[in-house]
Amino acid sequence: MTAEKSPVRRAVIPAAGLGTRFLPATKAVPKEMLTVVDRPAIQWVVEEAAGAGLDDMLIVTSPAKKAVEDHFDRAPELEAVLEAKARHDLLDAVRHPTGIARFHFTRQGAPLGLGHAVSVARHHVGDETFAVLLPDELLADGGRALSRMIAVAADTGSAVVALREVPRDQISSYGCAVPAGAVSADGVVELAGLVEKPPVDEAPSQLAVMGRYVLPPVVFDRLDVTPPGRGGEIQLTDALATLVDGPGLVGVVVASGSYDAGQRLDWLRANVELALADPDGGGEVAAMVAAALDRARPTPDPRPGGAR
Ligand code: G1P
Repeated sequence: MTAEKSPVRRAVIPAAGLGTRFLPATKAVPKEMLTVVDRPAIQWVVEEAAGAGLDDMLIVTSPAKKAVEDHFDRAPELEAVLEAKARHDLLDAVRHPTGIARFHFTRQGAPLGLGHAVSVARHHVGDETFAVLLPDELLADGGRALSRMIAVAADTGSAVVALREVPRDQISSYGCAVPAGAVSADGVVELAGLVEKPPVDEAPSQLAVMGRYVLPPVVFDRLDVTPPGRGGEIQLTDALATLVDGPGLVGVVVASGSYDAGQRLDWLRANVELALADPDGGGEVAAMVAAALDRARPTPDPRPGGAR
């Protein structure tokens, strides 16, 4: 994948969560390794970051996530077998993930929340602006939205969060933006704050934080003094809200579709839509889906007045 040189190089991908929403599938398999079309969900996220020009990925894991580390490492025994069988197509597919970027892994240590997971990246990130990508969200846009966020961060010097308008009854599942003004024609909005998972009747807007962030390194200082918030966890949202006093906080409303791959139905939608969009085979998938819908439709009752 080629990408323009980006002023932001490092991506932090928190992947230490338990994946309880997908049990029993995630009993022995990390949720980030569940397949979306032809590759694990986390590979889509890494490819998105690489598409935005990021070439250094720090994945924050827990002891149960060895498969994630193995996926981005070489597999000498498997490669030797494929080489001996001259399966060059498969060999390329097996080697591809390793070459997408430079990979680093660190452990979260204790499940203290998303803010804590990001804070353990401090050592690796140092004094640079960096991106955070939550692997539950799939964008599959080749990094377009993230590139735009990086450009807005470079222009404004502010922290930038991706936003998506959601139905009011869903806002309490997300971080919620407090807009300081109107959303511009190109989808940029200055924020006066963020609230983590507010009750619907207290939500300041329907703009949900959607798992992509471009952050200045000062966020690490803020995370260090962020007390536990919603759910008793150290919330990234709470630390970001404090950036209003400082570098500032800007939202970029993401127009392209995204999938919440941490939700069963949306994970299924990601599989269907991304398979349909695949240039090699999308047509076959469309025919398969049409046939499945036909079979699922109730057969009309041929009797006069029968059910249709
Ligand atoms: C996290 C964030 C939340 C954000 C969401 C996006 O919540 O805390 O602000 O809106 O990701 O997916 P989680 O889904 O991990 O509970």
